Amino acid sequence: MDILPQISSLSGELLSWYDRHHRDLPWRISPPMAARGIRPDPYHIWLSEVMLQQTTVPAVKAYFAKFLKRWPTVRDLATAPTDDVMAAWAGLGYYARARNLKKCAEAVAAEHGGQFPETEDGLRALPGIGDYTAAAVAAIAFNRQVAVMDGNVERVISRLYAIATPLPAAKPLMKQKVALLTPADRPGDFAQAMMDLGATICTPKRPACSLCPFNNACEALRLHDPEHFPVKAAKKERPVRQGAAFVAVNGDGEIYLRRRIASGLLGGMTEVPTTGWTARIDGETSATAAPFPADWQVAGTVTHVFTHFELRLSIYRAQVASKIASNDGWWEPVTNLEAQALPTVMKKAIAQAIPRAFSKASTYISGHNS
Ligand code: ADE
Repeated sequence: MDILPQISSLSGELLSWYDRHHRDLPWRISPPMAARGIRPDPYHIWLSEVMLQQTTVPAVKAYFAKFLKRWPTVRDLATAPTDDVMAAWAGLGYYARARNLKKCAEAVAAEHGGQFPETEDGLRALPGIGDYTAAAVAAIAFNRQVAVMDGNVERVISRLYAIATPLPAAKPLMKQKVALLTPADRPGDFAQAMMDLGATICTPKRPACSLCPFNNACEALRLHDPEHFPVKAAKKERPVRQGAAFVAVNGDGEIYLRRRIASGLLGGMTEVPTTGWTARIDGETSATAAPFPADWQVAGTVTHVFTHFELRLSIYRAQVASKIASNDGWWEPVTNLEAQALPTVMKKAIAQAIPRAFSKASTYISGHNS
């Protein structure tokens, strides 16, 4: 059988499913509006796509609203202080993205007159824009016929064609299949439809195949085993690293903070002093490694899972009488912690030592925090 009519009918089925069942998302132009020629703002699409690589749609909605309120245009973001952008990004994780976000905004403002390039290649040339983001922005913002593949799309395509090769080796084949399916008409809606299908119907567990627009064609369903796909290579166990973090509070209710060096993990973010994070258990992870002498008390441990390792931090707390001078940090009111560029692991460390540090109306009073 000639597969081309089959392919165009598959993309047609998916698009008519999307017309009825698309998710309403703050950065998205709905199909009826798109049909009237209304295009989304490329800045909104780029910002949402970078955020969506970090976290779920519900979490992104809040960050997206916060960023747009503060920096309504890419030029506004370009002129924002990097520290403010990092602080607004805090909690989303993978902070090199926030730094690149700012660099990308600067490049669009300075080199492209505030307009995002419209092609996949033009977009990929910008700082921090990789293959996925370039394809997603080209398709969704500029309606370019390019294949967009994220985790949701991988799942849909691997099931549709029952791709037996494990990930990540199967990615080129998957991309080829997505490219063949992507229509010349409405490629942006097609990309978003594939993502919505993966997020709402073709879910990792218990997919709702009876509601799927591909259920007549899906090879994995024909084999009665959609959950078997995508096939994944056996996972390596995550290594464990250990360290210590030091939460010092003075008599004015201030906490001692430092800035991490710009490069590397959590680069440029705010922290309480910590030791190095190492696979060995040795003296460097105990109170002997504290940033200054004080009556350091054990306050428990926190665990945080990074992409490539699990971190177990021993937390130490000290109440100090005066503002010990130290040239690499500063004293910050505990009541002002929300405004700091504190990554989640540091918030956990501080909350372990000062349980009410992040309560909404912070009522932290020095000496009353036990
Ligand atoms: N996940 C990542 N990008 C998305 C998009 N544009 N629509 C829905 N889900 C997404």
